[in-house]
Amino acid sequence: MKKGLFITFEGIEGCGKSTQARMLKEFLINEGKSVFLTREPGGPKIAEEIREMLLSVNNKEMLPQTEVLLYMASRSQHTGEWIIPELEKGNIVISDRYYDSTFAYQGAARKIDGKLIDTIRRYATFGLVPDLTFLVDLPEEIGLSRILKKDADRLEQESMKFHKRVRKGFLELAKKEPERFIILDGKKSINEIHHDVINIIKKELNK
Ligand code: TMP
Repeated sequence: MKKGLFITFEGIEGCGKSTQARMLKEFLINEGKSVFLTREPGGPKIAEEIREMLLSVNNKEMLPQTEVLLYMASRSQHTGEWIIPELEKGNIVISDRYYDSTFAYQGAARKIDGKLIDTIRRYATFGLVPDLTFLVDLPEEIGLSRILKKDADRLEQESMKFHKRVRKGFLELAKKEPERFIILDGKKSINEIHHDVINIIKKELNK
């Protein structure tokens, strides 16, 4: 039985969500909360091993089917081994990416059927849904320009068109679930975005 609060950050590459997730963690700790910050793909050992497989530029031959199942397999281990136990302790869990990324990258961008993804999603996550999802929205040209080309991973090396579909996919998800999603303007400064996050979180904590 879930007692804590589950918050996720989503967005395209280079949108600044990881910085925001870290800043939110610090803010909540200063407020005296117990916070667990994590990220996807990854987390516990098995999920990190799957992350390596997924992001390695040596795995260019990976099929979309394999890709979607590996993201979900990694998520399943992460959710069962780390996220649910933390929530059961009553802690706040912040995850830098969760299943919305699969709908945006493998669904909208790779064009895998959303209904199929949703079926696997329900099984892999034990039905866990984030309480609040911050989507840091940013045009793909700006996001990708922030990434160093030489260090780009397998997904980051995809075309600009691919990342355009990812961004559009995220915005469509947010439209479908306006109660859960908060769209943040990634063009604002780091501190301005943090301020927007804090305003929302204060309301959420007072519910
Ligand atoms: P990161 O750059 O935020 O660490 O994420 C790793 C990459 O994995 C990023 O390019 C987005 C991609 N990704 C998916 O394609 N599907 C997913 O479900 C997740 C969680 C990430």
